[in-house]
Amino acid sequence: MSEDAPGRDELRSMLVGYRISAALSVAAELGLADQLAGGPRTAADLATAVSADPDVLHRLLRALSTVGIFAAHADGSFALTPLGEGLRSDVAGSLRPLGRTLQDPAVWSAWGHLGHSVRTGANAFEALHGMEIWAHRQAHPEHNAIFNDNMAAHSALVADAVANAVDFSTWSSVVDVGGGRGILLEAVLGRHPHLTGVVFDRPHALPLSPTAGVPASVASRWATASGSFFDAVPAADAYLLKYILHDWPDDRCVDILRSCRRTLSRGGAVLVVEALLGDPAYEIETAFADLNMLVLPGGRERSEQEYAALFGAAGLELTAVIPTGTRMSVLEARGQTA
Ligand SMILES: C[S@@+](CC[C@H](N)C(=O)[O-])C[C@H]1O[C@@H](n2cnc3c(N)ncnc32)[C@H](O)[C@@H]1O
Repeated sequence: MSEDAPGRDELRSMLVGYRISAALSVAAELGLADQLAGGPRTAADLATAVSADPDVLHRLLRALSTVGIFAAHADGSFALTPLGEGLRSDVAGSLRPLGRTLQDPAVWSAWGHLGHSVRTGANAFEALHGMEIWAHRQAHPEHNAIFNDNMAAHSALVADAVANAVDFSTWSSVVDVGGGRGILLEAVLGRHPHLTGVVFDRPHALPLSPTAGVPASVASRWATASGSFFDAVPAADAYLLKYILHDWPDDRCVDILRSCRRTLSRGGAVLVVEALLGDPAYEIETAFADLNMLVLPGGRERSEQEYAALFGAAGLELTAVIPTGTRMSVLEARGQTA
């Protein structure tokens, strides 16, 4: 029997990597890590707890044990490993919401349409489903809630770092543009007690109750407002746009930035919080996030120079790139002086 050529195992693993994504996503949806938080359990016991088929659940647990998410014990039970802990709902930086986003069949099938994007340059999601992903989420509250959970979980990881990295001392009002649940704004107002702030988003993305879960020290300085950032945004000294521009093609980004520029106060700044292409520490993650933007919302990841060009087209200029110690950088832009 001939041996595989060098690299074939690695290549094979890459080719079938979607199977691991799919299995992890089901484990996340079923909440298996939460079920195992108290100690090892058998597949039969777990199947009763999560309403699953016992034989097939055993096969799922066995497969995910081979990649280190669970550990199969000799007595037939399964335990959570340190790697699998990250799928628990109650741990800091939980990746359960990310896993659950893949349970939306429209999202999963859009990735199957990547070739269409590559051949035509068009957004796969819209080509396949006949609508923008934002309209899809608005029409499917269950998937919308999971997406918003995932964004909130991501923001929770980096919000303090952003709040600490930026000097807000000369501003008094901040708008978190497309701020979703407002996790970033909450951290900024918590760290800078002289600021007031508004979370601005589509109505279905805002917190269900404007101040639910917001600490009392922040609630009195916090408001929500709904609308479209293509039309207008509330006036402010500083605009935070975290993970907004990477969702959109260049011309739409310029429209969003122009909306901000129109109501930006003198001396104010637009603060774009994004991962930058070209950062060697996150090369793989950002390059694949770029494909995710292509397939799902129809946007792209960008380099510092590409963001500078967008600012220029909107009558702004890039004035600082502020590292946060995370994958995200803050690009500060102000009104053009010349
Ligand atoms: C990728 S999420 C980022 C959410 C949040 N900034 C964060 O980083 O956690 C993009 C946000 O843009 C919002 N959005 C999409 N279209 C919008 C529009 N036309 N006007 C205002 N917000 C919009 C979405 O509802 C969503 O909350």
